[in-house]
Amino acid sequence: MLQERIPDLNKYVEPDRVRREVYTDADIFELEMQRIHERAWIYCGHETQVPRAGDYYAVQIGRQPMLLVRGADGKVNVLYNRCPHRGNMMCGDRHGNTGDFFRCSYHAWTFHHDGRLKSIPMMESGYAGTRYGRDNPDCSMKRAARVES
Ligand code: FES
Repeated sequence: MLQERIPDLNKYVEPDRVRREVYTDADIFELEMQRIHERAWIYCGHETQVPRAGDYYAVQIGRQPMLLVRGADGKVNVLYNRCPHRGNMMCGDRHGNTGDFFRCSYHAWTFHHDGRLKSIPMMESGYAGTRYGRDNPDCSMKRAARVES
């Protein structure tokens, strides 16, 4: 697969230089994403960047736009910056305060600071009998696989 197309990564790093392909080769970029940014611990921010409940900071982890957000319980959460409904970006600004909850600008679904679905407009009447609702974890904002501070 990808590893076979790049048989010897050592040849790209020499004692006195790094070959240009390390920065330009699409296959090396793909390996870097797979082996580092989608597998290893990635520093995404300092807790002091989000001192108050609702404070958020938008970061990019690998290819994913993510949000560092302080919850009302004081915990720092890391969420995908994407609405689970139709994929709308939740926060377009680099940082700010979302108030008591996130509200998607597209169809106004709201989410707690930890990503859990809070409400859907007309949830009982408009979505009765559908898969949309608080019981479905797919309706919450996706959380980072692991977060430590
Ligand atoms: S895309 Fe977010 S509520 Fe529909």
